Amino acid sequence: MTETFQFKLLATDGRARRGEVSMPRGTIRTPAFMPVGTVGTVKAMYLDQVRELGADIILGNTYHLMLRPGAERVARLGGLHNFIRWERPILTDSGGFQVMSLSSLRKLNEQGVTFKSHVDGALYHMSPERSIEIQGLLDSDIQMQLDECVALPAEPDEIERAMEMSLRWAERCKVAFGDQPGKAMFGIVQGGDIPKLRERSALVLRDLDLKGYAVGGLAVGEPQEVMLDMLDVTCPALPTEKPRYLMGVGTPDDILKSVAHGIDMFDCVMPTRSGRHGLAFTRYGRINLRNARHAEDTRPLDEQSSCPATRDYSRAYLHHLIRSNESLGGMLLSWNNLAYYQELMAGIRKAIEEGRYADFMAETQENWKRGDL
Ligand code: GUN
Repeated sequence: MTETFQFKLLATDGRARRGEVSMPRGTIRTPAFMPVGTVGTVKAMYLDQVRELGADIILGNTYHLMLRPGAERVARLGGLHNFIRWERPILTDSGGFQVMSLSSLRKLNEQGVTFKSHVDGALYHMSPERSIEIQGLLDSDIQMQLDECVALPAEPDEIERAMEMSLRWAERCKVAFGDQPGKAMFGIVQGGDIPKLRERSALVLRDLDLKGYAVGGLAVGEPQEVMLDMLDVTCPALPTEKPRYLMGVGTPDDILKSVAHGIDMFDCVMPTRSGRHGLAFTRYGRINLRNARHAEDTRPLDEQSSCPATRDYSRAYLHHLIRSNESLGGMLLSWNNLAYYQELMAGIRKAIEEGRYADFMAETQENWKRGDL
């Protein structure tokens, strides 16, 4: 364990990177998938299970936690780790992205964003400084700058305005964060689907010498190809010796390909959210357990898995639970999906170490095509 935040590159294979982020609360093996614990819970999962599946870090949301139970209250309760019983690193998103998608009456300007709580209708103001203050009250290990993410498609002028403002906010967040050796504040590259803007955003953030960099504003309605094109221009503009985090991504295929473009960290609600809706991710592709053809299928999702949810329960039972809206259905499929995502990440890390990432990608994609059988 280290006293300071550090990133070490252990191996590369093409542009794919195998690394390690070390910080006082633990080490994060990269490429890493961070399960999403929006309101202080990875939905339908015990955190002991989440750890057992191989998660080194989980994500929390400033926006949700500031509204309920409140950042000052979490601080009085001993911080987020103590409150939710997770001792390892926590990354918190800064709030801007969630404000735009969840709250009403939002007003955004240079000062920050004013919005109405989706919980009780109360009015809040969040500046870049307040976002960092809240993330500090939560005692978050990796804090994100406040940014503005534009949904695509959008006008170039609008994309540029939001990107430039996000750069100014990055600087204010850096000042607000100050010098905290054991923690990190990451900047967020914006610039929509415009290569020139992506490059400028990355280069300016690079000059700010932050401890890590996120790529934001992707997987917001654009085709996968556009997302990968943006990574193509963004990653080479970022420093090699700092971690790179692709926010809110994605499907197993998005992750596999983004790693090949140089991304180190991911988060997404997909494994847990789609699990609660009846969708299972497996080595052989996706299985929609709501479908009637599973009603009398006695096979488990994958008999070779070491995850009990995947190996021990029949598809017929999972189908029944999901159709009956039983909470156990969502629990078992979230468990299966997070197990699959972490198994995928472990496979990715091993393949990079062994210099066979391209083959690993091809084999993994071939298996997905086999489908449900
Ligand atoms: N989550 C997914 N995309 C984004 C983004 O662009 N900004 C922030 N702050 N969070 C995100």
